[in-house]
Amino acid sequence: MTAIAIPKYNYASILKDAAKVSWQVEDLIGKNRPLDFCKPFLPDALVHSRSVSCLTPDEQLILNHIRGNSYLHLFGLVEEFILPLVINHVQSIGCSNIEATQAFLGFATEESKHIHLFREFASAFTAGFGYVCDTIGSPQAIADFVLQHSPLGVALVTLHIEWMTQRHFLDSVRNHHESLDPQFCSLLKHHWQEEAQHARLDTLMVQDLAQMLSPEEIEVAIADYINIMQYLNQGLKAQVKLDLAALQQVIGRTLTATEGDDFSQIQEFSYQQAFLVAGITHPNFIQTVRELSPGGYARIAAIAF
Ligand SMILES: [Fe+2]
Ligand SMILES: [Fe+2]
Repeated sequence: MTAIAIPKYNYASILKDAAKVSWQVEDLIGKNRPLDFCKPFLPDALVHSRSVSCLTPDEQLILNHIRGNSYLHLFGLVEEFILPLVINHVQSIGCSNIEATQAFLGFATEESKHIHLFREFASAFTAGFGYVCDTIGSPQAIADFVLQHSPLGVALVTLHIEWMTQRHFLDSVRNHHESLDPQFCSLLKHHWQEEAQHARLDTLMVQDLAQMLSPEEIEVAIADYINIMQYLNQGLKAQVKLDLAALQQVIGRTLTATEGDDFSQIQEFSYQQAFLVAGITHPNFIQTVRELSPGGYARIAAIAF
């Protein structure tokens, strides 16, 4: 058993906040709400398409759209391992703390709605873009790999992802929405509204799981988190190659070797910043991990991508 600091969140206030948010997938995307391919889908801070100087402005916009599609796919993919993690956690807590059970059931319902949401947006993307962009996977194979690890290791990855989602919206989207496609902005905003509760529930789940473990088992979970991060990093690098292939097909030209290297370097950096660094360096993620294991956070901070 490991002593954990008193939780700063509580289930009653999370349930109260969750009840204020209410939207359905069909409110956000559908025949009457097409994506506007004249506008970027994501802020440049998340995709760095304008940094690829060998591309024309029109080509940079196409790259932004390709990154928008991969964003949908990558979020849909991670939610496919978050959902079973949360369902297993609900089963483990039973009915002894009924507010916790209610909150985690709501979490699972929302994550399954988000998977549906990302899939609907991905279908709208393919219909409007006119070209099928390849993405890494399969989601089931990736979920199978991730879920082989300890529940606390997977919960730490989930905590990372949910705080990262907060950062994407608050730092990059909230004040730049006028230049972005309104439907994509709406997706990011509505997803963020529910993730705000999830990030707090993840914190409580991490604390619950850690309380039952020895210090040695917590170190195993930290090692699992690092292993999953390195695996996801390989996936992001593979996605850069797929993005380059899609871009070249759509713009009808092949980049030179130097241009291709430049593209890959910028885009790998961009994916790592958006999906890995944004979570690892989030102050709330750091605080939770340091409470578990000060030495463990030092090992996480030292991950070389
Ligand atoms: Fe989600
Ligand atoms: Fe979530």
